[in-house]
Amino acid sequence: MRGCIFLLLLLAAVSWGLICNRIDGRLKQIDAGNGQVFGVGHSGMVVTRRGAHWLRVPGNLAHVTVGPAGVWGVDRAFTVYKLVGGSWAIMAGHLKQIDAGGDQIIAGVSRRNTVFCASKQQAVRAASYLSPAYRRVPGGMKYYSCGPKACWGLNSAGYIYLRDHVSSNFCVGSHWRRIGGRLAMVEVGTDGSVYGINRCGRVYRRVGISTKRPDGTAWRHMNFPGRRFRHLSADLGILWLVEVNGSIIRCQ
Ligand SMILES: *[C@@H]1O[C@H](CO)[C@@H](O)[C@H](O)[C@H]1NC(C)=O
Repeated sequence: MRGCIFLLLLLAAVSWGLICNRIDGRLKQIDAGNGQVFGVGHSGMVVTRRGAHWLRVPGNLAHVTVGPAGVWGVDRAFTVYKLVGGSWAIMAGHLKQIDAGGDQIIAGVSRRNTVFCASKQQAVRAASYLSPAYRRVPGGMKYYSCGPKACWGLNSAGYIYLRDHVSSNFCVGSHWRRIGGRLAMVEVGTDGSVYGINRCGRVYRRVGISTKRPDGTAWRHMNFPGRRFRHLSADLGILWLVEVNGSIIRCQ
């Protein structure tokens, strides 16, 4: 899947101080964390970024995630996998979406939008189908993503909630805070940055996030004229975007 890098200056992204290039490949979903990037292609093919190329990883997944708790994924039958010693080991539980971006915790949602998480000890040690032991997070979400101090979720209607005081030893956190707006997906970076995509494929960044204001202050639209997005992920100051048609854009 090697190919040329299309140099493509997307005008509006420039106002964020970002330079965006289209890169080779086509994906359905992407996740960046811990300095690594993983993606799922159209037939469930799994890839990881090495230098300027995509490397094929064995396996067939519906959603992949990489972060301080390792590389995890779920397939179309909701089976949970973790990359252990270079191959996918089946883990406990059944999830449709999973996130390893928290402080060595793992979190995800089931087909019925139940939220589960596993704290650091469980998540890091997990190596077989007997682990990890999950804890239930109250409430229902269809998408859930964690950063170092908080997780962000979307309920079935796309309304946005922050789960406060999530920590490596207590992945459940304390309570939900309702955030304004409505999204189709939301991702928290390992650095705590928060991005989302609405149902029209528009990209938003949450601004004003601080220790005092983990919920930030506002959503700012990132305008990519004429483009609609289905998925994104941010890590180490790099924003990875997947267009509705599968094209991949990298912004730095
Ligand atoms: C996807 O759409 C963009 C415009 O939004 C276009 O530049 C690109 O070539 C398309 N990619 C594919 C694979 O069709």
